[in-house]
Amino acid sequence: MTATVPALAARRRTFLWGAATAGHQVEGNNVNADIWLLEQVRPRVFAEPSGDACDSLNRWREDVAIVKAIGLNCYRFSVEWSRIEPMPGQFSQAYLDHYTRMVDYCRELGLAPVVTFNHFTCPRWFAAAGGWENQDAPDLFARYCGKVARAMGTGISHALTFNEPNLALGGRWAVSPPPPAFMERLAANVAAAAKASGSDRFSLLNGGDPVPMIPGVVAAHVKGREAIRAVRSDLPIGMSLAIPDNVAVGPDSGIARKRAEIYGPFFAVMDKDDFVGVQTYGRAYVGRDRDVEAPADAPRGADGKEWFPAAIGNVVRYAHKATGKPVLITENGLDAADDAKRQRFIPEAIASVEAAVRDGIPVLGYIHWSLLDNFEWFSGYGPKFGLVAVDRTSFRRSPKASAYVLGRIAKRSQLG
Ligand code: NOJ
Repeated sequence: MTATVPALAARRRTFLWGAATAGHQVEGNNVNADIWLLEQVRPRVFAEPSGDACDSLNRWREDVAIVKAIGLNCYRFSVEWSRIEPMPGQFSQAYLDHYTRMVDYCRELGLAPVVTFNHFTCPRWFAAAGGWENQDAPDLFARYCGKVARAMGTGISHALTFNEPNLALGGRWAVSPPPPAFMERLAANVAAAAKASGSDRFSLLNGGDPVPMIPGVVAAHVKGREAIRAVRSDLPIGMSLAIPDNVAVGPDSGIARKRAEIYGPFFAVMDKDDFVGVQTYGRAYVGRDRDVEAPADAPRGADGKEWFPAAIGNVVRYAHKATGKPVLITENGLDAADDAKRQRFIPEAIASVEAAVRDGIPVLGYIHWSLLDNFEWFSGYGPKFGLVAVDRTSFRRSPKASAYVLGRIAKRSQLG
């Protein structure tokens, strides 16, 4: 590490060092959610249903305590709209209390709770009423945000309205979509969910063509932000975008331009946000009309995939330049059954963030995805993103060595 520089010194003790989860991926039995329904109907696109997940609905205290024990100062988790408002306009005081207890317990242990209001899942009734294409969606979302803010807003450290609303659009799908066979199966799966809920308007983000949903999502971000600010004007608010380190290949990368345009609508509605949340898992080589393979001479891990933990440093620079906002790294990590890889990945990724900070980029924190091995959406429980392993039968948590690698860095880093 080089000598302390003012940009680093100024951030001491305020930098967030965290690990993240999301409700549907860890809680279990999220039965009122749109995606839960998709997991049950046929044809199935999910490798397996989420089921009990990590049983964090019951074991959340243990999860929060692990974040503390491994030496971090921040826990990012999401509140589940479908639990808080299982029927339109009917709010569950019991679940508002549940998530308030989580926020309070984080505070008790000295952890900053970073709370995501929407992490992909919505109530089933919301999807059945047209989802983000419903003209009432922004108001419905804002009403829910206001409820959550009133219940637990005083304890929250940073609020994220949305998690990766651009995923289907700019992150991957619309510009470089999965194979047609997958998209056809997904469409059939969503149609079966629509039938099961007796709706001809059933619609959800990441469930098909995302373009018609974008106006609703961006308006919901603005209205949700206003609803939260009306309750607590000093709570830092932002949203998280999926942003790979995009590298244009060849002289004319149409996709690179298209992707930048897509980030644009989101950056535009973030004008009154307090920070920009970024989530990065590596590089994307963008060609003329789709993402292409990494160059033959790119450094690779043992699995043959490109090894480039420094992607996050580049994305932090890009996001700050594009928005002028401080950057909060709300996700960064890798799917690795072999934890030795994560132990190497974490220091390299953080070194790239430290270099960006030395160059004057304001970075608020580094939150690793994920605290736990959990339900990785379409891929089920196969992928291993966790700092902590979870036994699929006993739900026993076992921190991996990488958790302590991150904890040690958090303790010693000049970022604070
Ligand atoms: C992005 C998403 O926010 C999260 O839900 C997912 O599990 C990770 N990235 C890993 O793919």
